[in-house]
Amino acid sequence: MKQKNILIVDDEAKMRRILEIMLQQMEFNVFQAEDGLKALQVTQDEQIDLIITDLQMPNLDGLGLLKQLRAKSNAVPVIMVTAHGTVETAVTAMQYGASDYILRPFELEAVEAAVQRALKLAKIEQENSYLRSELDSGWGEFIGNSSAMQSIYTLIQQVSATKTSVLIQGETGTGKELVARAIHRASPRRDKLFVAINCAAIPADILESELFGYQKGAFTGAHKDKVGKFELAEGGTLFLDEITEMDFNLQAKLLRVLQERRLERLGSNTSIAIDIRIIAASNRDPKQAIATQKLREDLYYRLNVFTIELPNLHAREQDIIILAEHFLQKHAQEFGFPYSGISTDAKQFLLHYAWPGNVRELENMMERAIVLSGGRLIETSHLPFNIQQEKAPLVAADKQTENLTDSVQDLNAHVEQLERRLIKQALDKTQNNKAKAAQQLNISERSLWYKIKKYALS
Ligand SMILES: Nc1ncnc2c1ncn2[C@@H]1O[C@H](COP(=O)(O)OP(=O)(O)OP(=O)(O)O)[C@@H](O)[C@H]1O
Ligand SMILES: [Mg+2]
Repeated sequence: MKQKNILIVDDEAKMRRILEIMLQQMEFNVFQAEDGLKALQVTQDEQIDLIITDLQMPNLDGLGLLKQLRAKSNAVPVIMVTAHGTVETAVTAMQYGASDYILRPFELEAVEAAVQRALKLAKIEQENSYLRSELDSGWGEFIGNSSAMQSIYTLIQQVSATKTSVLIQGETGTGKELVARAIHRASPRRDKLFVAINCAAIPADILESELFGYQKGAFTGAHKDKVGKFELAEGGTLFLDEITEMDFNLQAKLLRVLQERRLERLGSNTSIAIDIRIIAASNRDPKQAIATQKLREDLYYRLNVFTIELPNLHAREQDIIILAEHFLQKHAQEFGFPYSGISTDAKQFLLHYAWPGNVRELENMMERAIVLSGGRLIETSHLPFNIQQEKAPLVAADKQTENLTDSVQDLNAHVEQLERRLIKQALDKTQNNKAKAAQQLNISERSLWYKIKKYALS
């Protein structure tokens, strides 16, 4: 295990020396500062795991240091050193988030106990905050019963028990990240971290140091050691999103890590063993990405041990309305609106829209719709204009007539039914603007007026 870094803050050199000897005895790595200001500087340059600070010091005292750290959202555990006369101040410090205090003169056992307790507590808190953030995004959030999604659930279950690398393919917004998280959550690695990194969002050289980490001094600007994502995900899962956007050379280095299960931080010769599961995702067709030199073929075969292909939303017709209702409920609750369902007409549009942005687009659309409807029934007019423009109802009508051939007795009656519907929709869409509706239907305003009367639509 990596040595923990402890920072001792005290204006008396002798006191620092005593603590240093004790902490080195416990195999900690020790840093020193002679007042609060210098200590703040050290926390900026080094990855400090614990601070032991005196209370009274020139420049910035112990309490001031603690307050400044917390103001910067630095949650590093802090132990206060105090003499009998100042215990009260140390207790105040604990109200400001100090972990503990130790009394002078120091006893080795007391120091050791306080340090171990503080480190353990910090670890639990870190894990808790991680668990809290994970709770929002696990299995529980999957919606959809289509056969396509049923097979996805089965695949997730099958692969989660193994250590295998997984490649998830699917267009934007189809739920690739959701699947990756679900695999992690269902796996024996669930108690360790799920670390996600988007290869498209980070420039190549930075991505390399993000993944591998580096040794202090490895390059200009490497002021302190940095743990990379590979190491961070130890025992857990590393999610490499948009893998085809990773630099070609870096892909070769990734492949080496996957093969050898070892890596070196940049600027270091020490090789570190790692145990992680890799899940990669891409919204490109990997075969095509290989052909265009976006994806290394050898890496592809390494990752492609197990592939999950997410279908487009348009192809999961059965799930569209359930998903829409789920998102409407979710956002209604968020905004404090009631929720009264989706009109039949609006459903037709949802069912026949092409959904280029897939589930994410549906979610955004529903968020907007509930705001526009104010919690009332979602009508076509609450949907974006582009979806209202689609020829959806015609397609719907086509489908209806397909199944009607047997039962059609009266052609005119059916044509009229369809005509009435299309006119009603055009009026809804244009908020009863007759001129616009007529234009959309490509008929004269006069004949629209006539039909409105005929079908009692006004
Ligand atoms: N089956 C589903 N049930 C519920 N929510 C879903 C489902 N699929 C996707 N979502 C939601 O849709 C949004 C997009 O999903 P996600 O981020 O996993 O997509 P993605 O495939 O990674 O997209 P991109 O390629 O754009 O990164 C998320 O908010 C996710 O929670
Ligand atoms: Mg994604």
